[in-house]
Amino acid sequence: MRFSARPLSSQASASANSAPLLDDAREILRATFGFPGFRGSQEAVIARVLSGEHTLALMPTGAGKSLCYQLPALLRPGTAIVVSPLIALMHDQIRSARAVGIRAASMTSADAHNTETAQAFRDGELDLLYVAPERATTTAFRALLGQADISLFAIDEAHCVSEWGHDFRPDYRKLRALLDEFPAVPRLALTATADKSTRVDILRQLGLPDEGLVVAGFDRPNIRYTIAPREGGARQLADFVSRTPGAGIVYAGSRKGCEQLAEKLGATGRTVGVYHAGLLPEQRAAVQSQFVASEDMVMVATIAFGMGIDKPDVRFVVHAVLPKSIEAYYQETGRAGRDGDPAEARLFWSATDFAKARQWLGQVEDARLVSERARLNALAGLVEASTCRRAILLRHFGEDPPKACGNCDICLDPPKLFEATQIAQKLLSAVYRTGQSFGIGHIEKVLLGQEDDRVRQRGHNALSVFGILTSDEAPLLRSVMRAAMAQDMLVTNEHGGLALGPEARPVLKGERTVTIAERPKTKKGRQRNRAMSNPVGDPLFEALRAKRTELARTQGIPAYIIFHDSVLREIASARPASREDLAHVPGIGVKKLETYGDDFVAVVRGHS
Ligand SMILES: Nc1ncnc2c1ncn2[C@@H]1O[C@H](COP(=O)(O)OP(=O)(O)OP(=O)(O)O)[C@@H](O)[C@H]1O
Ligand SMILES: [Mg+2]
Ligand SMILES: [Zn+2]
Repeated sequence: MRFSARPLSSQASASANSAPLLDDAREILRATFGFPGFRGSQEAVIARVLSGEHTLALMPTGAGKSLCYQLPALLRPGTAIVVSPLIALMHDQIRSARAVGIRAASMTSADAHNTETAQAFRDGELDLLYVAPERATTTAFRALLGQADISLFAIDEAHCVSEWGHDFRPDYRKLRALLDEFPAVPRLALTATADKSTRVDILRQLGLPDEGLVVAGFDRPNIRYTIAPREGGARQLADFVSRTPGAGIVYAGSRKGCEQLAEKLGATGRTVGVYHAGLLPEQRAAVQSQFVASEDMVMVATIAFGMGIDKPDVRFVVHAVLPKSIEAYYQETGRAGRDGDPAEARLFWSATDFAKARQWLGQVEDARLVSERARLNALAGLVEASTCRRAILLRHFGEDPPKACGNCDICLDPPKLFEATQIAQKLLSAVYRTGQSFGIGHIEKVLLGQEDDRVRQRGHNALSVFGILTSDEAPLLRSVMRAAMAQDMLVTNEHGGLALGPEARPVLKGERTVTIAERPKTKKGRQRNRAMSNPVGDPLFEALRAKRTELARTQGIPAYIIFHDSVLREIASARPASREDLAHVPGIGVKKLETYGDDFVAVVRGHS
């Protein structure tokens, strides 16, 4: 057993220590990572780690949690042990860390040099050592830890420790014993998703004090949320994809859904990949790394795709079907725009999505029914909203956001509200009077007074509801149907026939009003993207991008590892004539200046 007795972590008054250290931290942030300042809660978290305190950092996806342990690892003597659930995730991080000159390695079944890595660790030659919880808790690994200095323990994706979390990993539970062997070593648990009970559970499971919880806001201001009814099949999606540049993810529901959608999107001329459980593991790995390396690939995938991938330059995430919950929606859309540049989150939904989900609710066991129904209703509230989407999301996570964000479809193009109680009543009685077994199309005909053979055969043209909608009401029928299905006034049977749901009665009895939000019809091309803030067409910018692509190819790394787009934009506008000038561009640390400086300065010179 070993109690780390190194001066930093064992000194009594911890917080007194962190002030001068924070200055050092800022210097490393600038010189090594190349960032001009901390983001959000990074500083608060890092200050705690530097003064040796245990912390649980709850920060949104893409907020920069990795930096919270990578930076202190450089300042505190010894090696930081990073517990992480996925090998792909570790390798991704190690690649980025090494690119800025951090000495990082992992010990996993996929690594060929574990013996050498262990030796490097003993010799104090590693800043970061990544390991999966399964290995971390073995006796052999614990013995190894006793043979060198440990600067801190970072437990990434810490929600895995909790049964309440959505990715429970039993081996995370065993970490506590390991951590307790090194009581003086600061612990830093990090996660993007944890509700109140999960937070408490993580604190207890990892032995962290209550005051160690640092919660950052959930807002991702650079993501623009747009939610619209699905219309016209894949056309709508293909239109969006063909006019939105950059890499993107399209979530489709099923394996078959992915395949079909990929084919249609492929016809737009964009490079399209497919990812789902039906592929072999090596096929999945190949298409994933192709996506990570690409600057413009569209990945059509099931939600299995994306967990833990840090591809900062994903420009859009589309949901072609309804996500599972608001939490899932937030996490999946959060994969867009991690570099802070503008990004799009699009959701296309239809009434059938809700019908299916509600049908599925019928099979849920009683104990979970209430919470599952609440989950679906919350989602219905989001997609049908007539108020700011971001505000709804943030309130869902317990925040108190401003009423309007200015960067969602509702704020940008406020919908018109219609009092639609009467239309809803007419709709519900038509469903009732036709015997609760006909589909949307038939009910629509009855309400609009359109006769066909079926209508006549059934005698539905003789019903009092036949043709009951006025010409003002008719155009709103589809929206009211969607609302009725989303809000459980209408349900469908297994053949797609509509029947009254639990919420129908109060509407029919006039106890409940129905309001719908109708989007203004957007003219074609109107929703054109905010030109992704890149000066596309600027010859210097394009030349810098081409240089980055070339370097990435020859080195076999993704382009964003070299520089983010924001750095290229800065170079294009500052036009540094020398390495010294280039050093002033934010986003370029010492190591990258040395590795890439001359190449990019040469490009600028070639354009002056
Ligand atoms: N202070 C900063 N300034 C600018 N960019 C930053 C800063 N800190 C981190 N970043 C960048 O933000 C991106 C996301 O960082 P990171 O992978 O650590 O996110 P995360 O919080 O771990 O997200 P996830 O929950 O998805 O794992 C990275 O590309 C990183 O380089
Ligand atoms: Mg992370
Ligand atoms: Zn808004």
